Amino acid sequence: MSNSNFNSIVTGSAGFIGFHLCQRLLNEGFNVIGIDSLSDYYDVKLKIDRNSILKKNIKYKFYNFDITDHSKLKKIFLNHSPKYVFHLAAQAGVRYSLKHPRSYIDSNIIGSFNILELCKETDIKHLIMASTSSVYGMNDSTPFSESDKADTQLTTYSASKKAMESLSHSYSYLWKIPITILRFFTVYGPWGRPDLALFKFVKAIKDDSPIEIYNKGKMSRDFTYIDDLVESIYRLIPFEPNISAKNHVPYQLLNIGNSKRVNLMDFISAIENNLGITAKKKFLEMQIGDVRETWADCKKLEEIINFKPNTEVTDGIKKFIEWYNNYYENFDNTNAK
Ligand SMILES: NC(=O)c1ccc[n+]([C@@H]2O[C@H](COP(=O)([O-])OP(=O)(O)OC[C@H]3O[C@@H](n4cnc5c(N)ncnc54)[C@H](O)[C@@H]3O)[C@@H](O)[C@H]2O)c1
Repeated sequence: MSNSNFNSIVTGSAGFIGFHLCQRLLNEGFNVIGIDSLSDYYDVKLKIDRNSILKKNIKYKFYNFDITDHSKLKKIFLNHSPKYVFHLAAQAGVRYSLKHPRSYIDSNIIGSFNILELCKETDIKHLIMASTSSVYGMNDSTPFSESDKADTQLTTYSASKKAMESLSHSYSYLWKIPITILRFFTVYGPWGRPDLALFKFVKAIKDDSPIEIYNKGKMSRDFTYIDDLVESIYRLIPFEPNISAKNHVPYQLLNIGNSKRVNLMDFISAIENNLGITAKKKFLEMQIGDVRETWADCKKLEEIINFKPNTEVTDGIKKFIEWYNNYYENFDNTNAK
């Protein structure tokens, strides 16, 4: 597909996943309109640094504001007539939602509602929205499949994402908007989030501080490497759902994961081996709202895009640590704006 002059909007463009997706879209010739409030949920400098890399590309145009502001968002949709919208902006994080629930309602429900309203009014080809494996909540049939019930969310974060999914389905049905909801499973890699396990563990181990291990380590996650995630999203762009005899709503729901469970203690060992340091470990009880296991069934996605995320966690950890060392030893001091 020739992508020149296709305008795409990426919300959350200065975030971890948004940044990588924008880089890919720009490399493929898309014009990218990035929107991000640069919220201070975690170190804003990391967001500014990611964004400063994107801004070097003349095909990237950035707007710094909050997507709860409908009128600002409307101007951007009207000015740029996007063909593709990638809605990634969100208040993320499971644990933070215990203390700051309103932030999730604002960004994830009101913000997503604004995006849907504007997609209703503009002629877009495909709206792709980020949801999360945590919507599976108390579901204990593994691997998690899109056909499993997801009615038992355990946190405001996952409940807000489930609300976004439901709203999206209704908008897709009512206004025939082609929408794909992607349920991401623990995404990691270079430029990753400081609030997530890999970043926290690497930082603590290097600082000689203890790492906090919940549920005494008896947990497992399906870890998705960022390049696999971006490859999957990119391949999905031309596969917008259509109305057919079988499908009355141009809506699809897809898991994106590595389709493998990794035990938390094995994940920690891989980090220790890479750093050549044994971590000081503090074993804690299960955190309220956390789930013991995530594991994605991605057959539906793989059939559509003919690609299977497959980066081994040891390789992904290696790439993250290389980035971490380089960023905090070089980039962080020299490229700061
Ligand atoms: N990283 C993961 O493991 C993971 C897993 C499941 C789902 N997700 C989802 O993927 C998406 C991207 O996650 P991420 O890891 O890149 O998180 P991130 O926090 O790095 O990125 C989100 C970005 O959105 C921006 N933002 C938040 N609220 C906003 C608002 N109201 N208006 C404008 N901008 C706003 C933030 O400033 C941030 O830069 C999110 O929707 C998240 O819920 C991520």
